[in-house]
Amino acid sequence: MARSSADPCIVVIFGASGDLTSRKLLPALHSLYLQELIAPGTSIVGTSRSAFSDDAFRKRIREGVRGYCGKNPVGASWNPFAQNIHYVSGDATDERSMQELGQELAQIDAEEGTKGNRVWYLATAPSLFSPIAGQIAKAGLLDTGGWQRLVVEKPFGFDLESARTLNASLADHYREDQIYRIDHYLGKETVQNVLVFRFANAIFEPIWNRRYIDHVQIMAAEQGGIEDRGTFYDQTGALRDVAQNHLLQLLSLIAMEPPVAWDADVIRDQKVQALKAVRRWSPDDCRSVVVRGQYEGYRQEEGVSSRSSTETFFAAKMYIDNWRWAEVPFYLRTGKKMPSKTTEIAIQFKRVPHLLFDRTAVQEIDPNLLVLRIQPDEGISLTFGTKVPGPEVEVRTVDMEFDYDSDFGSGRPAAYERLLLDCILGDPTLFARSDEIDQAWQIMDPIVKHWARGGRPRSYPPDTWGPEASDDLLRLDRRSWRNS
Ligand code: BG6
Repeated sequence: MARSSADPCIVVIFGASGDLTSRKLLPALHSLYLQELIAPGTSIVGTSRSAFSDDAFRKRIREGVRGYCGKNPVGASWNPFAQNIHYVSGDATDERSMQELGQELAQIDAEEGTKGNRVWYLATAPSLFSPIAGQIAKAGLLDTGGWQRLVVEKPFGFDLESARTLNASLADHYREDQIYRIDHYLGKETVQNVLVFRFANAIFEPIWNRRYIDHVQIMAAEQGGIEDRGTFYDQTGALRDVAQNHLLQLLSLIAMEPPVAWDADVIRDQKVQALKAVRRWSPDDCRSVVVRGQYEGYRQEEGVSSRSSTETFFAAKMYIDNWRWAEVPFYLRTGKKMPSKTTEIAIQFKRVPHLLFDRTAVQEIDPNLLVLRIQPDEGISLTFGTKVPGPEVEVRTVDMEFDYDSDFGSGRPAAYERLLLDCILGDPTLFARSDEIDQAWQIMDPIVKHWARGGRPRSYPPDTWGPEASDDLLRLDRRSWRNS
């Protein structure tokens, strides 16, 4: 699909001294710059309370870019990019600091021709999203005559009520089409490919329903722990960090009805419809359909309370109550310190209705399994039964494989590159709309409430697939997790 060309703009990053800025955002912008996907003059202004000179900030960013590409950015490509990076220190919730920032931005407009166009990127602690967004507006920084886009990082809200309050406070100053709620999973090529796979191929749609599908497993397992994010993670947990956003995004892409056009609102309308149909568990139901786990040793991690009941593992069974999916379970699972880093969606088809082969030679035929591997080893596989060569009719399951690297090579744009570019181009398709966030929280809120009533997560040893209760969740349904 041909993309329009980008307007020059200023990308203003709040929380610029943080990790996200140096590890993801600036390397992504640098890569877009090298590919000439952003317009000449486009500038970046980092701001936070830490004191940096422009040069010190550029040095920090250069190190981030080196870590990202594995090599030092060379002078010829780095210097002209770095020249358009600036830093303003200040407290973004304070009116005077905001006005000083405004003066710097106006000067860049005059020198670089950025025409008042702004991407306001909130890469701060979630508690600052609303105060900073409000302060930008109150300081008059939206009145530049150019376009204004506000990017809000996750987690978006802490529960349903706080998400609604945040949506409402942003809506006081920004139109919905100016708000870009980022979920980096949507920027992954393999996640976007879920839509292409479903809607660019005629053969899957007729079987994409309760008649042929037995159940769906959506898993985002991580081998790593919480690294140096103890304080953040202990206030967040797996439900808010991954399940409410990344896992439900994947679920909505698998479950949605076919959209009539590749259009931001048409696609998002269908995702919202799918989320609306997800059965709402009562806090009491949660006891039997949700598992909360915590890896052993978590409470000794830096920044974590020694009595913490924050979950590092989440598993749940969900149903989508509509004609397509009635009574097909969707099992969701995510966790830290698991045996491998694997994100995948496994669609398990039903067994053949009648076994016509001699039962002495064929005990059982594995049902077909379609696996969309989001990462790593990105690809898609489909299993099917095949006759083993020989005089008997012996059936063995084999794989049909598509592997991204073999077909397309290993280079793929990183999620943040794609999403930052979309934001600069004004394409919100891969960003969450307010009603999507609201629906996702309506699904998760009873679980949050159930956990808030007390109890503790079940512990699991690092390097395992989570607490036993997670296996029981499927065992009770005579199923089992697919462990990569
Ligand atoms: C982030 C979470 O949104 O996603 C992290 O905050 C998690 O805790 C990360 O590790 C996983 O992303 P990816 O792209 O590595 O699967």
